[in-house]
Amino acid sequence: MADNKEKLLAAALEARDKAYAPYSNFRVGAAVLASDGRIFSGCNVENASFGLTVCAERNAIFAMIAAGATEIREILVIGQTETILPPCGACRQVIAEFAQPQTVVHMCNRTGASRDVTVSKLIPFIFRLKKRKPAKPRKESRQE
Ligand code: THU
Repeated sequence: MADNKEKLLAAALEARDKAYAPYSNFRVGAAVLASDGRIFSGCNVENASFGLTVCAERNAIFAMIAAGATEIREILVIGQTETILPPCGACRQVIAEFAQPQTVVHMCNRTGASRDVTVSKLIPFIFRLKKRKPAKPRKESRQE
């Protein structure tokens, strides 16, 4: 796990350098180790319409999903603060969607020192919906 943390930290720092945070100047990087062994990273991307901003954690997780990986094995987040950076509530919900209760979340301070917690500790009550079967493709009715 210590080895994973080093790799995740390197990936998250590289992503943090690319953060687009002109409104807050609060730069964040995140990296996810997927269950297939690949690492995906993300940075926060802000917008002049503030509510459209997306956090680093969610960008890393969405990159993982877009690349075909399905599960988070470990995740790390790093800001630029003296204190550790705990993921925001929205990101906790998204992490929980793709992780197990025992999955480790590394919350780093700017030096990379971390407090490591499980998802169940980070978000004890998770909102869940029953997953539905994909709808059957409709028969083409129009004749060519
Ligand atoms: N931010 C993250 O990227 N992750 C978090 O968990 C907390 C907040 C970003 C969003 C915004 O660009 C900036 O930090 C200030 O809120």
